[in-house]
Amino acid sequence: MALTGIALWAFVVGHMAGNLKLLLGSESINHYAEWLREVGQPLLPRAVLLWTMRIGLIVATVLHVHAAAALTAVNWRARPVGYARREDQRASVAARAMRWSGVALLLFVVYHLMHMTWGTAHPDFVPGDVYHNLMVGFRGGLVTAVYLAAMILLGFHLWHGLWSMFQSLGWSHPRYNQWRRAFAIFFTLLVVIGFIVIPVAIFGGLVGETP
Ligand code: HEM
Repeated sequence: MALTGIALWAFVVGHMAGNLKLLLGSESINHYAEWLREVGQPLLPRAVLLWTMRIGLIVATVLHVHAAAALTAVNWRARPVGYARREDQRASVAARAMRWSGVALLLFVVYHLMHMTWGTAHPDFVPGDVYHNLMVGFRGGLVTAVYLAAMILLGFHLWHGLWSMFQSLGWSHPRYNQWRRAFAIFFTLLVVIGFIVIPVAIFGGLVGETP
């Protein structure tokens, strides 16, 4: 769970940083998107590294979901009757929140790919013109609200995930808990704020001119 989570977290941090290139203008973000397809050339054919990353992401996602399902099955087998009222239920509440936020995030990613990668859920998708796709994609209030809600969910998921990661890897000691907490909060805020900036700036008319 922790190792695949780290891989997905690394993707999310890199993706958030890449998206911020929109603030530098259309050339910057479109050039970056083109670079993602070209990187590795001429040693490797075009898009081979991009596809390697995509396959890595798919494998990490499948293994992450598989580990979550296995963990859920173990928890249910260990306690089929559920906790008595007076017992501390904090751990199971956090675990349940991870489960449903994880499922919601998966659904968001499917919608997001239809919106920004395949263009099937986009009103005017232009392949290769990421700037245009973002500027038009976040014109609507509903779409922007869906993204904001998804980023808040991502925040909860990341926060608990980053905190639990140390436990899963066996790096847990009460003396380091405040560092774990600070680490989880810092990276959660970094990712959530970094992502949210883009739809908010576009919807609020703070960047570019809509084509
Ligand atoms: C406000 C937040 C976000 C914005 C503005 C955004 C924007 C984009 C854009 C423009 C693309 C297409 C890039 C291209 O074709 O070069 C893309 C692709 C993608 N995004 Fe996001 N994204 C956001 C959040 C997320 C989150 C939270 C996740 C995952 C949890 C995610 C996962 C992906 C994936 C898997 C792709 C496909 C990458 C590929 O081409 O293989 N995105 N995103």
